[in-house]
Amino acid sequence: MRAAIYEKTGAARDVISIVELETPQAGEGEVRIQLHCSGVNPSDVKSRSGMRVMAFPRVIPHSDGAGVIDQVGEGVDRARLGERVWTWNAAWNRPCGTAAEYIVLPATQAVRLPDGVDMSTGACLGIPAMTALHAIQVCGGVSGQRVLVPGGAGAVGHYAVQMARLLGARQVLTTVSSTEKALLAQQAGADAVINYRTDDVVARVMDATEGDGVDRIVEVDFAANIETSLKVLKPDSLVVTYGSGAADIKAPFYQLVLKNIGLKFFILYNLDVASRQSAIRQLTDMLEKGCLKHNITASFPLHETAAAHELVEQGRVAGNVVIKTSEPKA
Ligand SMILES: NC(=O)c1ccc[n+]([C@@H]2O[C@H](COP(=O)([O-])OP(=O)(O)OC[C@H]3O[C@@H](n4cnc5c(N)ncnc54)[C@H](OP(=O)(O)O)[C@@H]3O)[C@@H](O)[C@H]2O)c1
Repeated sequence: MRAAIYEKTGAARDVISIVELETPQAGEGEVRIQLHCSGVNPSDVKSRSGMRVMAFPRVIPHSDGAGVIDQVGEGVDRARLGERVWTWNAAWNRPCGTAAEYIVLPATQAVRLPDGVDMSTGACLGIPAMTALHAIQVCGGVSGQRVLVPGGAGAVGHYAVQMARLLGARQVLTTVSSTEKALLAQQAGADAVINYRTDDVVARVMDATEGDGVDRIVEVDFAANIETSLKVLKPDSLVVTYGSGAADIKAPFYQLVLKNIGLKFFILYNLDVASRQSAIRQLTDMLEKGCLKHNITASFPLHETAAAHELVEQGRVAGNVVIKTSEPKA
């Protein structure tokens, strides 16, 4: 099979190469997926660039992907042969991710992709959609709440705006940095879209919430936003954080404690089984009902994996980037 690999970390163009590898075989409890698409997430880019120590001598990157099960190992229902699936955690603590023509995974990490949902979308579910859903559902959910989603045009943020609305938020506010991104956030269903580079975010949020502030913030950049967040959070409210622009964060203790603010940090890779199953069930339901908008901004053939990494790394793209793993060679 063809696969994108790297054997050392560094700049995408310097370290990613396309090679022929032996096609893997499904073992006990595993399925083999003939991949159609592989999703590129900031996490994959950070690992390849060297932000994390390489745990394996050779890595096929990317946790997200979608394809068709073409082989099942012992103990796996043969009825799954031919099933369209999406993957989660494919490259987490594993050397072989989805930037390849085939992948072998434990059967539970291949989730049925509902009819009518295309493969590119399937490759954006494992991290962006699941992160958004967990951030909305965790700690009692958002029913009746006013929710602020900074970065509402990002891969995660765009789903978070929609899911907050679908799961009963009373009001969804979001911040963006351009008119193009504002339109995306509006189309996702945000009630108020604020440009955090040009607007007075605190005044706009307080105005939109009739002076109340928000019950929950689904945070993309804790380090950059905590000072502003404190000014728009209601007493007893919550910040659910999935990202931070800086690894070391400084938070004003007295302001947090005086308002009884809850802080919830999470990394999707380490979700407990019950939370993951609950998010998968909920996401499948939303996909079957066709009530989610997806935003795939760019797709590349496998031999241009390095270019896809560069695009995600630049951080200028609004939406998801995928690799068509089954497209013909260059
Ligand atoms: N904890 C987890 O399990 C988990 C899961 C998924 C992602 N993440 C992390 O979350 C981050 C976002 O992931 P993603 O895939 O959604 O990336 P993305 O598609 O690049 O989206 C990030 C969005 O946030 C906006 N943004 C950046 N800084 C902001 C700020 N200070 N205030 C408001 N908006 C801001 C960006 O737009 P502008 O720059 O134009 O404002 C962009 O639209 C990454 O760091 C990723 O590694 C963590």
